[in-house]
Amino acid sequence: MKALIINGPNLNLLGIREPDIYGSENYAALERICLAAGEKLGFESVEVFQSNHEGALIDKIQQAMGVFDGIVINPAAYTHTSVGILDALKAVQIPAVEIHISDVDARESFRQVSYASMACFARVTGEGLAGYAHALELLKEHLEA
Ligand code: DQA
Repeated sequence: MKALIINGPNLNLLGIREPDIYGSENYAALERICLAAGEKLGFESVEVFQSNHEGALIDKIQQAMGVFDGIVINPAAYTHTSVGILDALKAVQIPAVEIHISDVDARESFRQVSYASMACFARVTGEGLAGYAHALELLKEHLEA
């Protein structure tokens, strides 16, 4: 089982960016949490990718075809706008879990819309960085079912 974790715009600024919402831990901490959870859960490999560019995120999803068994994706702001990311997830048909650090459903109304969710079998929100470990757990259960 190989997992790809994809993070969208501004997540590279974790720790600096709105710490009251996203916490004080930085992006390197997010990467460490993902790699540790992947190892603990018995994934063969976990790759963690981040880009601020919609097209780069779409390219990465397309390139995952035939390489990765599952995707955990935090499209960040593109969650609420990107039909392109939704279409890419639908096109590759790789099981995907949507993750958000904050509780998007309790925030502004525009954050309560998610295009990506239409191509994801599960969703984790509001659990902070630990949500990534939870999302990998859900992915593992799904792949083994
Ligand atoms: C986010 C929530 C989004 O609304 C926001 O644009 C982000 C991060 C989260 O992880 O809570 O950049 O996806």
